[in-house]
Amino acid sequence: MYKIPANTLFMGKNLVFVPECPSTNTLAVELSQQSPVKDGTVVITDRQTAGKGQRGNSWEAHPEQNLTFSVILKPGFLPVKNQFYLNIVISLGLVDYLKARTSDPTYIKWPNDILVHGKKISGILIENQLQGSAIAGTVAGIGFNLNQDNFKTDNAISLALVTGKSFDRSSEVQLILEFIEPRYLQLRRGDYSGLMEDYLTRLYRRNARHVFSSNDILFQGIIRGVDEWGKLRIETETGIRTFDVKEVRYLD
Ligand code: BTN
Repeated sequence: MYKIPANTLFMGKNLVFVPECPSTNTLAVELSQQSPVKDGTVVITDRQTAGKGQRGNSWEAHPEQNLTFSVILKPGFLPVKNQFYLNIVISLGLVDYLKARTSDPTYIKWPNDILVHGKKISGILIENQLQGSAIAGTVAGIGFNLNQDNFKTDNAISLALVTGKSFDRSSEVQLILEFIEPRYLQLRRGDYSGLMEDYLTRLYRRNARHVFSSNDILFQGIIRGVDEWGKLRIETETGIRTFDVKEVRYLD
């Protein structure tokens, strides 16, 4: 039922659809381990039964209403130390897609939650397979709330709730892939500064004072950006501090 995108060079040209699976990320890793898989291969399902989220959380999506898929990438050109740029590529691809669908502003909550109206519309889980100093393969899992009209939590939203319309899943995946591909090509040609600049422009709560916690200690700070390893840079009263994903939480 999912069509191959017409307007990409390679992204999604190889499309693996399964009606149901525990996790498209897990399936994509398994497929990559069984035999060589082409750059841009997409694994997609309508019903994900054990979706994985960041920080060991689960990802829940009403079946047949949302998008749950994983893109297999082969970024052999990317040094391991720059692997955060893969998060930037996927986040910006989704932001570009959302710009085509709504005039409501979209933000990226570090490291890669996509927000509209301050609520999460999409989550990304990137799993890299490293080989020495190279990235042998990447699985970029995307959960996108498309047509779901109610959520258990107040922090989530769907494109249908934002726009008042419902969307065809196949057309929307194609369009998302059409927006991710140019961002990936931007990375492939080494335009790190262009990617970082666009990422920072969309960074949620940048340059505004907020409360955070680290090791259960609360502190006030101002997000100033991310460093080249993807750590969050927060200006505090003792100077700039940098944090890894598990080291800081947004509190207010
Ligand atoms: C997060 O925000 O915590 C990341 C959520 C990522 C969910 C997607 S759905 C498709 C892919 N398969 C998974 O098991 N997880 C990702």
